[in-house]
Amino acid sequence: MRTEDARPVRLEDYRPPDWLVETVELEVSLHPTATRVRATLMLKPNGAAAAPLILDGEELTLTGLTLDGAALPPEQYVATTERLTIAQPPPRPFRLTIETTVDPSANTELSGLYRSGAIYCTQCEAEGFRRITYFPDRPDVMAVYTTRIEAEKAEAPVLLANGNRIAAGEIAGSGRHFAVWHDPFPKPSYLFALVGGPLACVEDRFRTMSGREVELRIYVEPGKEDRCAHAMDSLKRAMRWDETAFGREYDLDVFMIVAVSDFNMGAMENKGLNIFNDKYVLASPATATDGDFERIEAIIAHEYFHNWTGNRITCRDWFQLCLKEGLTVFRDQEFSADMRSRAVERISDVRGLRAHQFVEDAGPLAHPVRPTLYREINNFYTATVYEKGAEVVRMLATLIGPESFRKGMDLYFVRHDGEAATVEQFVQCFADVSGKDLGQFMRWYSQAGTPEVVATGGYDARGRTYRLELAQTVPATPGQPLKEPMAIPLALGLVGRDGRDLPLKLADGRAIERGVLTLTKAAETFVFGDIGEPPVPSLNRGFSAPIKLVANVSADELRFLTAHDRDPFNRWQALQTLATRLLLDNVAALRAGGAPREGGDLAAALGAIVADGALEPAYVALMLALPGEADLAREIGRDVDPDAIFAARAALRASLGDKLAGPLFDHYRRLSESGPYSPDAISAGRRALRNACLDLLAATRRGDAIALAARQYQAADNMTDRMAALATLSLHDVPERAAALHDFYARHADDPLIVDKWLTLQAAIPEPATLDRVKALTAHPAFSFANPNRVRALINAFAFANQKEFNRADGAGYEFIADTVLKLDPRNPQLAARLLSALKSWRVLEAGRRALAQAALRRVAGEPSLSRDSSDIVQRALAEE
Ligand code: PHE
Ligand code: ZN
Repeated sequence: MRTEDARPVRLEDYRPPDWLVETVELEVSLHPTATRVRATLMLKPNGAAAAPLILDGEELTLTGLTLDGAALPPEQYVATTERLTIAQPPPRPFRLTIETTVDPSANTELSGLYRSGAIYCTQCEAEGFRRITYFPDRPDVMAVYTTRIEAEKAEAPVLLANGNRIAAGEIAGSGRHFAVWHDPFPKPSYLFALVGGPLACVEDRFRTMSGREVELRIYVEPGKEDRCAHAMDSLKRAMRWDETAFGREYDLDVFMIVAVSDFNMGAMENKGLNIFNDKYVLASPATATDGDFERIEAIIAHEYFHNWTGNRITCRDWFQLCLKEGLTVFRDQEFSADMRSRAVERISDVRGLRAHQFVEDAGPLAHPVRPTLYREINNFYTATVYEKGAEVVRMLATLIGPESFRKGMDLYFVRHDGEAATVEQFVQCFADVSGKDLGQFMRWYSQAGTPEVVATGGYDARGRTYRLELAQTVPATPGQPLKEPMAIPLALGLVGRDGRDLPLKLADGRAIERGVLTLTKAAETFVFGDIGEPPVPSLNRGFSAPIKLVANVSADELRFLTAHDRDPFNRWQALQTLATRLLLDNVAALRAGGAPREGGDLAAALGAIVADGALEPAYVALMLALPGEADLAREIGRDVDPDAIFAARAALRASLGDKLAGPLFDHYRRLSESGPYSPDAISAGRRALRNACLDLLAATRRGDAIALAARQYQAADNMTDRMAALATLSLHDVPERAAALHDFYARHADDPLIVDKWLTLQAAIPEPATLDRVKALTAHPAFSFANPNRVRALINAFAFANQKEFNRADGAGYEFIADTVLKLDPRNPQLAARLLSALKSWRVLEAGRRALAQAALRRVAGEPSLSRDSSDIVQRALAEE
């Protein structure tokens, strides 16, 4: 295991590589415990001076080394498990052949070459290739790979690697066979992949815009072929969309996806050979929910889109991770918006951003979209790099407009194809096409923390003007006590009495392009002229900037926006703001021993939304979801009491369910489907609304609502409705719950991905018995600490999705997570570190819990053999502010 070493890596220390690799020939002879790897590298000096050749390794054993065909004498090199050094290599291009032996069965970290069940597979991002062979394992070394895989035919009938297959055959009389794959596109080592094993395949074809035929193949465990249709359909739609939306065409003759059950992340964009967590491939109406269908579509698209944003143009170094991830998330969000509903997609994305990224940005793990220092790069696959990174790209598009944005993307593809690029080079393309100075905009990449904008508006009837005073601050974050003002694109409207937007003109004659103001100073006042009536400001429409907005908008004005704003995001936001204000008051009241307010106004606003037949069901469903417990905790920000938050929210849900019972029941009945299940967005939206109605009704704990949920559970002909009913029941301590949970397991015991849903539901029950239930479930035959999906389904669900029980006042939730982290860490540090990050917000808790959470973190920190992954998280989490 890699124990902590002294290796902070700094952006400012970046130097181009001394040696480049032109081609890599890999020969891999698969064996469960002793796989032999022979790598032949064509190396050439990068520049004039002949520097030592230093290749990265990790847990490697060298078994052979030749230079231009001759064995290298031992005094000419030093090989450790972590490094191969040739101090004085010839100052010219040469051929180096390296032999290593690795044990895939012992690879529990799931990085490098490992086994998932009977399948051999690889995961090389970020630094896994060095666990296969010695190599300059950095993304700016791009090489052309040819891979020959050899294996027992019985053990691994299917052999895959990147690119196109150029040869295959039997090795006479040995029971072994081989395949040779060639990838003509130079790529960094992190995009290398190979797979071997007993796999079934689903095939299809795609004709690209220039008329080339591409074979599409999805490989899964035999018997799961009938669950690939949605993934295949999503892939074809993604390929077409990238052609139309970005002019990007696929470039190899074959595109392959392999689904494996053991995977640390969601999926991986290896060139031509994406490897997926099977959770994000397999779906059928009986096994997957609408949410699963939606995520599969998005992740299939995300990995496919990486072919251009990540693979053809890759990252110069890992500090530039957002260059591929933020941009590719932006692209998959746009794809989903086009496939489904733009408004619903935007609201869901912003909810995710606030729930994860805002929380990260407000705590000790806060870091810029482009960090400048890391000790373990695996810990920077974060909501900040991915989701805030996507917001930054979206702001670029907002600032320069859609046409210029597309031109800038085109320029980026032309200018940097085949290169390992930087964030500066990316942004320069947009500056060049738009003529705009994006210097200040770069702070979005370098300054961490969520900017807070205070907006104060005032109408002057006599002057017929509306004054909007804006002031921004960016909070201090670790290593960044002082911040400079950001360039904040603020889309806005001034809504007139009749609900229509008033024309926007600044009194000083400056133009407002596309309804977007750009705030660039710490404080700035904008005066709008020709305003004949007092308007209601609708600010940050579409969430044009990832900021926290505080505006002096009254409850009446918010209700007005809820009914009339033509920006659907802000209609939703207005209701969220109303609900948040009420809930925060109620949390304070409950903590002071008082009673919560009932919120009749909110019920009225919500009732009007529910009654509005013009709104899409999926959108209304989002309206019915109140701000989550974590959202409220984030708003409160200090001295947080999760029990009071839970109580306030439960009381309001009960009161809304009660006040709106009539229309909710009506909707529930009206939306009942008769036809067969279809996962399309409209049908999914109807189910989402129907299930949201059911859930709010059940929050009242009325017998008829609970009975309805129990009936829906039994009668459901698809996983969406069955799970929704079960999730609703699981929130209430009623006999129907135990019966349904029991039934669910009995039905699906042999399907691990469905058992995961069962584990998650139980981990999320907001009752004191849950912790013991979760502990007991770790001994259940369906559970395993070795499988990341099982661990995340049970334990991460408890730590991240059950605010109340994870934050038990006695600290037992924190202790359990610390125990589990210590148990997982030696086996799979990435998985352990991710779980450990659940404790990152400890400082905002009320004093009792804060001390207990800190003690749990300190106990983890005290483990002497902690992995670099976990030690990095725990040290940053505990660091003094
Ligand atoms: N690059 C993967 C993505 O598409 C994520 C990933 C990172 C997967 C590291 C595995 C390891 O976002
Ligand atoms: Zn990605």
